[in-house]
Amino acid sequence: MSHILKSARPSRLGLDAFLEHYGDIFEHSPWVAETAWKQGFTDQHDDPNVLADCMGNVLKRADIDQQIAVIRAHPDLAGKAALAGELTQDSTREQAGAGLDQCSSEEFERFQRLNQAYQEKFGFPFVIAVKGLDRHAILYAFEKRLENDAAAERRTAIEQIIQIARFRLHMRAAEAA
Ligand code: GUN
Repeated sequence: MSHILKSARPSRLGLDAFLEHYGDIFEHSPWVAETAWKQGFTDQHDDPNVLADCMGNVLKRADIDQQIAVIRAHPDLAGKAALAGELTQDSTREQAGAGLDQCSSEEFERFQRLNQAYQEKFGFPFVIAVKGLDRHAILYAFEKRLENDAAAERRTAIEQIIQIARFRLHMRAAEAA
């Protein structure tokens, strides 16, 4: 049984309060939450999976430029912003949870090379839902995904972003339990 978002039930919140609690579920992209809220919620949306599907559908139906803007709102993994402590709280926690703050200098350089190669090929950063993965698994996936074409990689990035949102909502529900 998954928890429900009981300390701030989406179905009971006005737009401003909803955005205060859930506007950051999609990294630097509160319009996703706003569009979902405007479609109307029922009690079912107090379940993190239902809310993740609902907000995810907003993102899947958005046009390609909007999708790319959301992908671009993500920081590089083990990137300079992470080193400088400039990430959002969620990103900091996710990257540290995958041990990315523990990279050796060789691993760190590998991330920098891959981040650059990926950006150059696709024009957006590599996004992966890191929960349950360690840095070795992430580096492996990174090299594999570099072989994809841009359209496939954009779709994969959007799926991964929806997965990240799902984890974030489950974290909030568990924290509020
Ligand atoms: N996956 C989970 N969190 C993050 C993040 O902050 N950046 C990227 N690129 N992927 C992630």
